[in-house]
Amino acid sequence: MTALKNDRFLRALLKQPVDVTPVWMMRQAGRYLPEYRASRAKAGDFMSLCMNPEFACEVTMQPLDRYPQLDAAILFSDILTIPDAMGQGLYFETGEGPRFKKVISTMADIEALPIPDPHKDLGYVMDAVSTIRRELNGRVPLIGFAGSPWTLATYMVEGGSSKDYRKTKTMLYDNPQALHLLLDKLAQTVTSYLNGQIMAGAQAVQIFDSWGGSLSAAAYQEFSLAYMRKIVSGLIREHEGRKVPVILFTKNGGLWLESIADVGADALGLDWTCDIGSARDRVGSKVALQGNMDPTVLYAKPEAIRTEVGRILASYGKGSGHVFNLGHGITPEVDPEHAGAFLRAVHELSAQYHE
Ligand code: CP3
Repeated sequence: MTALKNDRFLRALLKQPVDVTPVWMMRQAGRYLPEYRASRAKAGDFMSLCMNPEFACEVTMQPLDRYPQLDAAILFSDILTIPDAMGQGLYFETGEGPRFKKVISTMADIEALPIPDPHKDLGYVMDAVSTIRRELNGRVPLIGFAGSPWTLATYMVEGGSSKDYRKTKTMLYDNPQALHLLLDKLAQTVTSYLNGQIMAGAQAVQIFDSWGGSLSAAAYQEFSLAYMRKIVSGLIREHEGRKVPVILFTKNGGLWLESIADVGADALGLDWTCDIGSARDRVGSKVALQGNMDPTVLYAKPEAIRTEVGRILASYGKGSGHVFNLGHGITPEVDPEHAGAFLRAVHELSAQYHE
């Protein structure tokens, strides 16, 4: 295996000293980039990009080629590959987001769900990981990812995106045993899927609990965090002679950082609703932090973006343990020049916080 030329992302996740604060962007390969839109048109649609390792590799590399400041690559795929592999038939309706041919609503539906084998049923993802690792050739580390069981369950039960998670929450309160069985099957699947990605070459993994913050405090513990704890305890934590850091990102989880920091992950992702300096005071002895600029700041002028980057860096303060990121994915309307200004500002303004 080629040695890593830039490992500041992995070092910061383990709170080892770095020269500048590392940075990447959630959804960095996406529709705001004209080269991404061209690849998607060539592939036909979004799922064809994901399912073809050459295309997945091509779009993963696009932001890295455009922005030399990026300190990590993220596998190009989607969290919904898992429900698709469980037989739900994922498709994307233009402008409508994800949809499933089969929706899950009863205990019998859940009992019938198979537990996918990552190599047999999601082999295209494993192939994408190894293809991207080869292409990266040690440039930056590669992040693998999966959705949290709760977040995946919302899509599987609602049949797509949802504003209020009405069906999933009704199941949670009316039929908790059914939801627990679904979450347990998902936790098993996510664990072997992430371990498959690690064995194929992912050097860090992130669990996206995008909708965990929609739960009550008690329900969050029982229906989301408990399953992420289970996953974290089953993950391969060292590979190729290096630690494989785990990042947990519960969007809107700011009220629960202490308990999230307790499940054994190396880092927590923060959305923009919390102050990163206060978050560091609360959990900084246990975990590194990743975040947390409001992605809409990227609509503003480069000078305003720079000011906001400076504010977040000052709030975190001196020392390692911070990976700069957006608090959620970059949106399609962002000007690519603004993303570049953001990434440059992070490296330029952060040197003063490191020895
Ligand atoms: O960060 C990256 O660059 C890696 C790629 C990535 C995608 N999806 C590509 C994608 C990652 C990490 C994801 C994760 C994902 N997918 C999440 C968790 C992160 C988050 O945003 O909270 C969720 C909830 C999904 C489910 C999903 N996939 C939705 C709701 C949508 C449609 C919304 C939209 O933006 O259109 C997708 C599609 C999707 N996944 C796109 C991309 C680039 C857009 C598809 C397109 O090109 O039309």
